[in-house]
Amino acid sequence: MSVPLVPILDVPAELAPLRADLDAAIARVLDSGQLILGPEVEAFEREAAEYLGARHAVGLNSGTDALVIALRALGLGPGDEVITSPFSFFATSEAIQLVGAVPVFVDLAEGAFTLDPDAVAAALTPRTAALLPVHLYGDAAPLAALLALAERHGLRVIEDAAQAFGARYPTRCIGCRCDGGQSGALAGRRLGTIGDVGAVSFYPTKNLGALGDAGMLVTDDADVAAFARRLRNHGSERRYEHETLGYNSRLGAIQAAALRVKLPHLDAWTRERRRLAARYDDALADLRDLTLPAASDAHVYHQYTLRIANGRRTEVAAGLAERGIATSVHYPNTLERYGGRVHGDLTRAHAAAASVLSLPLYPRLGEARQDLVIDALREVLGG
Ligand SMILES: Cc1ncc(COP(=O)(O)O)c(C=O)c1O
Repeated sequence: MSVPLVPILDVPAELAPLRADLDAAIARVLDSGQLILGPEVEAFEREAAEYLGARHAVGLNSGTDALVIALRALGLGPGDEVITSPFSFFATSEAIQLVGAVPVFVDLAEGAFTLDPDAVAAALTPRTAALLPVHLYGDAAPLAALLALAERHGLRVIEDAAQAFGARYPTRCIGCRCDGGQSGALAGRRLGTIGDVGAVSFYPTKNLGALGDAGMLVTDDADVAAFARRLRNHGSERRYEHETLGYNSRLGAIQAAALRVKLPHLDAWTRERRRLAARYDDALADLRDLTLPAASDAHVYHQYTLRIANGRRTEVAAGLAERGIATSVHYPNTLERYGGRVHGDLTRAHAAAASVLSLPLYPRLGEARQDLVIDALREVLGG
């Protein structure tokens, strides 16, 4: 089947209703002649910071750069260990390795796709300098417990919020055993703004997607923000004066202008993602060999990801494909295969990598297309 009836994403459909506003925003940038950084990027940085409730937002070329620059801006590098999740996109551990630090992988919490704080605590060494939790699929990592650990041991916390722009910390504790009081203090705060630094991706398929690569670093720390601004521009604040080795990671003005068009729609898109996720939950709850996402009230459903039991994932994905339903596996492997160090065993992460399957879920999916997915899945799983 060449073109699926229900694609895993539908970027043209997402952009269609915005087309006139996007065209106008792009025209504004073209007319201004300022194609990189400049007023459009500054305006987006202000609007994004305000939306998130962060003091500083620094527009960058990608979420990967946001992670690398976050690590550099916090002074992390050779000799440092950074404890992170083995179950994420490659960029998470790639960034740690790119700055010369060592990713230390520990297992996920039971029933969750995010780090187990007990496993993190057990992996601490005198070289541990930072924790790098990932808010995978748009749901919160157990930051309350991780922040408590970080405070006790003097560690920095970098949130990989690449998939979670707009999500908030949940009102009840998810995937961790910290006391509810800590979670309560964080409840409602936007993910990415809770640790020392947050890294965000605006890759076009993200909940808030640009028209190409784009990313952002968010922080309340003015020094970190200032250093990140230098790092994105070859370590330079003044032309031809370079204080440190940096990167070319300046955000383009067209990306910023497009993101400014989209940002005011994000909360409505999130509501629709949640409504559709609840429809999947209701329609699939009775099926065998399938575990639904353990939803928190913070989840923004960047992905709606099931676990398929008994080694049936390949068969289920193939059955759906035959019926015109696209699916995706985020992620088929765990990250320790690319370097770094493992502490303890990664049984839950490996089980996740072997069983996860993401279904189509996006604001313009619509109930009719979603029903095709539901019917196909019920047929394939014999519901
Ligand atoms: C968890 C995670 N971290 C980091 C990144 C990197 O973001 P970007 O693709 O914008 O470089 C991604 C992007 O897919 C991601 O999903």
